[in-house]
Amino acid sequence: MTDWPIHGTISGPIVMIGFGSIGRGTLPLIERHFKFDKSRFVVIDPSDADRALLDERGIRYMQAAVTRDNYRDMLKPLLTEGAGQGFCVNLSVDTGSVDLMEFCRELGALYIDTVVEPWLGFYWDNSGGAAARSNYALRETLLEAKRRKPGGPTAVSTCGANPGMVSWFVKQALLNVASDLGLSFTEPTTREGWAKLMADAGVKGVHIAERDTQRAKSPKPPNVFVNTWSVEGFLSEGMQPAELGWGTHEKWMPENGRQHESGCGAAIYLLQPGANTRVRTWCPTMGAQYGFLVTHNESISIADYFTLRDASGKVLHRPTCHYAYHPANDAVISLHELFGNGGHIQPEHHILTEHEIVDGIDELGVLLFGHKNNAYWYGSQLSVEETRKLAPYQNATGMQVTSAVLAGMVWALENPDAGIVEADEMDYRRCLEVQMPYLGPVKGFYTDWNPAQDREALFPEDVDYSDPWQFRNVLVR
Ligand SMILES: NC(=O)c1ccc[n+]([C@@H]2O[C@H](COP(=O)([O-])OP(=O)(O)OC[C@H]3O[C@@H](n4cnc5c(N)ncnc54)[C@H](O)[C@@H]3O)[C@@H](O)[C@H]2O)c1
Repeated sequence: MTDWPIHGTISGPIVMIGFGSIGRGTLPLIERHFKFDKSRFVVIDPSDADRALLDERGIRYMQAAVTRDNYRDMLKPLLTEGAGQGFCVNLSVDTGSVDLMEFCRELGALYIDTVVEPWLGFYWDNSGGAAARSNYALRETLLEAKRRKPGGPTAVSTCGANPGMVSWFVKQALLNVASDLGLSFTEPTTREGWAKLMADAGVKGVHIAERDTQRAKSPKPPNVFVNTWSVEGFLSEGMQPAELGWGTHEKWMPENGRQHESGCGAAIYLLQPGANTRVRTWCPTMGAQYGFLVTHNESISIADYFTLRDASGKVLHRPTCHYAYHPANDAVISLHELFGNGGHIQPEHHILTEHEIVDGIDELGVLLFGHKNNAYWYGSQLSVEETRKLAPYQNATGMQVTSAVLAGMVWALENPDAGIVEADEMDYRRCLEVQMPYLGPVKGFYTDWNPAQDREALFPEDVDYSDPWQFRNVLVR
């Protein structure tokens, strides 16, 4: 039996918004690692599917949806009742992250979420065009809130596995690559320092390269979307435009690629859904593979964080950065079925629990490419078998997320006046230290593979052999 450490005390009420696959999995980690008053823990979710887990613990459950109209009235009494500092843990869909975090900060409460989630309706409203429903646009609302009110009570934004943990992996991976290249450097302590190290190491880009090999006991039935985490969350982001941090080495952009007119300028978007956009990438277990270029906050935040500028602000170096996600096979078939049927979403959704999975791992890491040693993948290879032993109510995918939420909560308690932060800005060492016991093997692998390899065997293709790591070669066309 592992002797789990207590990482801190939550002195005020805990309000968890959303009790789906991630909320359920986060609960035992909060119980295990924090001191808190159980009688001041409340969970809000319109669905009571798992309320038995709360009832058996004596945790208060409120059956309600948090909305733009009710969030102030609903949350104020819950977060301010009694002494101490409240903590709002937002693990829901369809709740406006930026409004919620600003309100929590107004109340003096700590806040964490795993995605810059918009209020209900945003993802499916195309009246402003694709740019308006991009993650770039969502992140800009976060950056604006941060500029408006710097410092103050800590609100940790987008702190799941990805976005979240992968930003910490990028830093560790970069240090490993730079050391292996024999660069002489000291570990950076500033954003500019990290950006310079990325440029000095010659890293052209980063894939968030993930392969989920978890296999369900029963085959996917027709007309059911099956996934290993939120189907709703995956569909929302999958139907947003494909988005990627746009590196300075890129010489070609697809015809349907677009730049944004304002904001940080670190990313572009394509006029096509991410869940129907395939890219070539590499993960250790399966090697070369296709992944989906689904938009994610970290594609933009990592590219932005590692942008190196000169004194006049001119961009000198920026890595390309995007998600390259091979979900569980059932989710791949679900997407195939959906797009084959004109994009109509299946009437039934199902998230596989740890008991419905035979075996498999979620191999989630970062592939730093384009440097002199070609490419380096660094990440977690957590299996469902190990997950079952570590904590209840979750599969391997869930545990990579919930343990990042745990790490983010610990960091917030230890840094309660940091204002609004993204994972890139947090202490990656401390966060990984908290999270590591839950990640299974965390390892680095070099590969000789590149996306210009094994092409044109039978048919001509448009390949740029002069620079294998061009997006031109990565994108499947
Ligand atoms: N960063 C990451 O690595 C990462 C990974 C997985 C999930 N996520 C995000 O975490 C969130 C939760 O994921 P999940 O897998 O638990 O999803 P889920 O679909 O299993 O659960 C979402 C829960 O939110 C509840 N909900 C819906 N509307 C609500 C409202 N208005 N107020 C309160 N609750 C509401 C639902 O009833 C459901 O129980 C999603 O936003 C998802 O995108 C992030």
